[in-house]
Amino acid sequence: MANVVLLSGSPRKNSNTMDVLDICAKEIEKNGLNTELISLRGMKIQSCVACNKCVEKGNCVLKDGLNEIIEKIRVANGFIPAAPVYFGTARGDIMSALQRIGKVSRGTDEFLSWMVGGPIAVARRGGHTLTLQEMSMFFPINDMIMVGSRYWNMVFAYEEGTTNQDPEGLEMVKLFGKNVANLIKKIKG
Ligand SMILES: Cc1cc2nc3c(=O)[nH]c(=O)nc-3n(C[C@H](O)[C@H](O)[C@H](O)COP(=O)(O)O)c2cc1C
Repeated sequence: MANVVLLSGSPRKNSNTMDVLDICAKEIEKNGLNTELISLRGMKIQSCVACNKCVEKGNCVLKDGLNEIIEKIRVANGFIPAAPVYFGTARGDIMSALQRIGKVSRGTDEFLSWMVGGPIAVARRGGHTLTLQEMSMFFPINDMIMVGSRYWNMVFAYEEGTTNQDPEGLEMVKLFGKNVANLIKKIKG
């Protein structure tokens, strides 16, 4: 079981979003918690169909692999979703995933309640803040605890493998990861 699940919404093989999450995960591990990095790459995540069947079934009726990810989040203490920015907002799959994860939590045992985390956005040039705002809506409505750092969790990168061109962005993501780990440790004693 991972203490913190980190979920990437990028479809790319050598994804900058995955690279950023990897740095965040290493910082969390350095601070004593274990992590699991999951990617939506290759998956076809459907949007919530509002069937409300999760209430009776305990999980989502759509069979596209998201339930397996939900089971990992269900037993974690932290959750960090990250998205590449597409046309100024988060790539669609990650929002579809977040909406279904939230719906299942609220329809079942509210496993997201008091879970610690926050969103991360990666883009070439613009749209980070709107993407973060979009993804941030997921946390307070699900009774979660969103953690800060000293700037927003945004990294500038375009070509694959270029996140190191934004050292300030990576430092903020590291501080965020450290804060997530330390807050979980405080809550869990
Ligand atoms: C369809 C599409 C739309 C994009 N829109 C934006 C955008 O609005 N702003 C921006 O700065 N970068 C944009 N990008 C660039 C990506 O956000 C950038 O390459 C990012 O590093 C991709 O992360 P990934 O490697 O994890 O997929 C776009 C890329 C694609 C494929």
